[in-house]
Formats: sequence, structure tokens, C-alpha cells
Amino acid sequence: MPAITAVRGRLVYNSRGSPTIEVDITTDGRHTGRAVAPSGASVGIHETASFPDGGVAASLQILNDNAGRIYGADPGDVGAMHGVIREIDPEPGYPKMGGSLAFALSIAAAESAAKSAGKPLYRLLGEQEPLASALSSASASPASKRYRFPFPLGNILGGGAHAGPGTPDIQEILICATGSDTVQDAIRTNLEVHSELRRVLQESDPGFSGGKGDEGGWAPKLDNEKALQAAARACENLGFTLGREVSLGVDFASSTQWDASRSRYVYDRAGFENDPGEQIEFASDLISRFKLIYAEDAVHEEAFEDMAQIRARFPDVLVTGDDLTVTNAAILEKAARGGSCNAAILKVNQAGGLHDALEFAAAGARNGISLVTSHRSGESTESHISHIGIATGSKMLKVGVVGGERVAKLNELLRIAELRGGDGDGDGDTEHDLIQGMAEL
Ligand code: PGA
Ligand code: ZN
Repeated sequence: MPAITAVRGRLVYNSRGSPTIEVDITTDGRHTGRAVAPSGASVGIHETASFPDGGVAASLQILNDNAGRIYGADPGDVGAMHGVIREIDPEPGYPKMGGSLAFALSIAAAESAAKSAGKPLYRLLGEQEPLASALSSASASPASKRYRFPFPLGNILGGGAHAGPGTPDIQEILICATGSDTVQDAIRTNLEVHSELRRVLQESDPGFSGGKGDEGGWAPKLDNEKALQAAARACENLGFTLGREVSLGVDFASSTQWDASRSRYVYDRAGFENDPGEQIEFASDLISRFKLIYAEDAVHEEAFEDMAQIRARFPDVLVTGDDLTVTNAAILEKAARGGSCNAAILKVNQAGGLHDALEFAAAGARNGISLVTSHRSGESTESHISHIGIATGSKMLKVGVVGGERVAKLNELLRIAELRGGDGDGDGDTEHDLIQGMAEL
């Protein structure tokens, strides 16, 4: 059994310049895995808190005090690593160590184990239980051919909590190259649309500075409607038909607008308010007119029944929970029972550690809910989520289009694509290979 022989943590910075934690784990004295915890700006109320009181320093102290428990553990068994983490912090929500430490420890361990075993991280993760069983019973295709590429889903225009005053209230307008047959083409197409959108925005406002939001989407001074029109125009200028070669998506991040004391969604930048019924109509209207393939958090994070209404109206749209489901398997089960969504965002750090996130993925597979593995707005230049997206059978990988910390994930997909030659990874083992082509949407 491989065993952890060194562990070390340090304070580093994320893409927003905020302090976070990085953990290195070494297996058998030779194979080092490293992970940096990301962080969100539009954080769900049921998400795991990133750090305990005392911030990164307090998490580092816990790591140093408990290093002895980590030495000797099997880094390749995500469940066993979870057991070690739970010995350190048994309370739900990781109040002692913070979700960021659970994230960094569990991912650094898995990466070091994958290096030690000489296999890609997505394979090591895809073999973990209960995920492997849940995926193979959910999949119509043989288990040996279940890995496919998720469609990259990228932020092309940002507002809300990711950009400043004057930008749209809705948080993200997203592009997905739904007509692409290969991951290379899908990435290139998203880049073309992002670039054409800048031209469209500059044409209508010569004062547009080219400023971007936290995730690399353009941040123009436009309301929701005009922003979506500009995105649609960029696609059409390139000769694409919405719903065919490319499709648009929206992350409404509606909890940002929700004023619980008045039971109203307040769109203060555009200057209107919606009651819950009007919000359903508002979101439905945008989904229909812009032929959205993807609608995330179209209502606030506790409106399970309102989500179910949207879900029922649009069976072919990925009606997706993010703040609604917060990568929590129990909440996902509840959403599935109520028919609230047919897709859910998987962000490891919403849950805490990797084991929690893989349990969520297994719950998604059991309930027929499509997964969308996602970055956070405050990111690192690492690319573990490209592997997590493949391992969990995600339909989409929401990682942005441009910016070093976003492109890092896309570039990793391109590297993984090279493993497809021959039997998939070149090691003579035909099990669990990645097959040609994209996930089925
Ligand atoms: P966050 O936003 O990472 O800032 O929370 C991303 C999202 O809401 O999908
Ligand atoms: Zn979201």
C-alpha cells in the first residue's frame, strides 16, 4: 500500500488576490501532490465555510498539529483519507479545520496517489466507491467505455457579484459549443465567441474598455437583456445558429437578488423587482427567447418548488442547481424527489473534501441528475477539476474561457485528449478508457 510520508501547508493567494491554503502531500518519499483551495463570491448559505475563525493561519495550525495522523494513510483511497480528515474534525461542515483544508488535503493526497500509481487522476477518482458502481449502473454503455469529455461551459459576459456597478444583475452569460464533436473544437469555438463578443460590445459602445469580471467574462455597462442580445449577436456573426453549433446559458445566481424580508428579487441595476411568480416568468422568458440550453439558480437557494416549475416547463434545458444544491448529497436527494432540477453543479469546496463531492456525484448518477463540475470565481492555476469532471461523468465543465486560471483547466483537457490514442492511456490496460467524443447532452 502506498503511504503518505510528508505533508506541508502554506498560505498562498487565489486569482482574486485573497489568501488561501495550499497543501503538499508526498507519497512514498517521491510523489508529491499539491492542491490550492479556491473560493466563491456568490456563496450559498448551506455551503461549507472555507476557514475557521482565525483564517488560513488557524487551518495551517490544525494541519501542523495533526500531521502525525496523516502520515502512513493510503492517499489513493479517498474514503480512507476522509476517515483521517474526520478524525481531525468530526463535526459536519468542518468547523475546526475549514472546508478549504479538507479540500486541499484530500485533493493533494489523490494527486500524489495517482502519480505514485502512474495513472491519470481521473482514473483514480473514477475507480472510487460508491461513485464507480453508481456510474456503471446508471450508464447504458459498458463500464470500460464510460469516460467522455464534458462540454466546456464558459463565462463570456459577467455581472452580479462578479463585476461592478452598471453591469448586468445576472451573474453569468455562458457559451457552450453544443455542436462540437471534439473537445479541441469545443474549446476553440468558445474562444471565438468570447473574442467576437468583445467586437460586438465595442461596436455598440466605443467607450467599452475591455474590462472583465472575476471569471474572465466581459463586464460591459449593459442591462440583462442587452447583454444577452450582444452574446446572441456574437454567435450569429460567426455564422452559428443558437441551439445548434453553439448554445447560450445563464447563471442567474438569483440568491444575490433575493430580499427575503420583502419576498422580492431586486434587480437594482436594471431597475425592477420580481415577486416569486414574476421571477419564474422572467427566467422562463429568457430561456425561451435566447434558446438557453442551461439555466442555473433561476430562483433563490431555498425555492425548491419554484425551481420544479421551471424544470417542468423546460425538459430539454439543463435546469441546474448551484446555491440550491451546494454539492450536498442529502440536499440533492431532496431536489431530486421534488423534481427541482435535472442538473447540479459540483464544486468540491462547497462540500468540503473530495469524498463528500464524490458522494454527491454518486447521488446525482443514482437520481438521473446531470452533473456540471465547476470552478469558483476565486481560482488557482491548477486543473484537478478537469479530471474530476471526467471521473464523475459530468456533462459539462464550467471553467471559463480566458484568463490563466481558467485556461489551465482547458489546457489540461487538451493534454488528457492525447491519452485517447491506442487503448486510451498507453499502458495496455483497456479498462476505464476515455473514449472519443463528448458527453451526451
Ligand atoms: P462563485 O460563483 O464561485 O463566485 O460562488 C460561481 C457560481 O455561482 O457559479
Ligand atoms: Zn452559480
